[in-house]
Amino acid sequence: MIFTVAIDGPAAAGKGTIARAVAARFGFAHLDTGLLYRAVGIRGGDPVLVAKALTLADLARDDLRSMAAGQAASRVAVIPEVRAALVDFQRRIARAKGGAVLDGRDIGTVICPEAEVKLYVTASAEVRAHRRWLEVGGDEAQVLAEVVERDARDMGRADAPLRPAADAIVLDTSVMGVDEAVARAVAVVEAALRRMHP
Ligand code: C5P
Repeated sequence: MIFTVAIDGPAAAGKGTIARAVAARFGFAHLDTGLLYRAVGIRGGDPVLVAKALTLADLARDDLRSMAAGQAASRVAVIPEVRAALVDFQRRIARAKGGAVLDGRDIGTVICPEAEVKLYVTASAEVRAHRRWLEVGGDEAQVLAEVVERDARDMGRADAPLRPAADAIVLDTSVMGVDEAVARAVAVVEAALRRMHP
């Protein structure tokens, strides 16, 4: 069965948690596509060449989750040649047999517009910054400033800007607990699977 769940949205909205839970619930593969951009951003050198040579091993570095890697990622993510170099890798996983969940910024709009399920997971910048601050610590105002800066860069870029696909279901997790957000996402996937195999 080929079945793609595309989960897009801004930083720290809860995409990763929802994506992992949905993948585990249905036995689908999971790809956190932010890791690709983080791996390219943090490597230094020519980002286009790095993106073209990227392998799964590059996604295993343990420093990819830092705030600095997130900022570096969003800077290389505006380069069209970097994005183009990463398309095939993502599409192969999205349309591999057995089902897949991909979370990122442009999965439902660019990488896999034919995805069977599209979710756009969002929350207010303050709520997202607070969640990120609980993970990374430091100065909460500084974390909020970085979240707002990254949102602006991701939404304002010319190539594959962050926005909900026209047919995406929006989940606002500002006032929703993790369990409820996961339950809603699971319900959407179940409904789509039933439509395919009534
Ligand atoms: O999701 P994460 O915070 O790991 O993503 C890091 C950065 O990588 C984002 O801010 C964005 O600039 C870029 N990205 C992207 N397209 C994706 C996933 C991530 O442009 N599909």
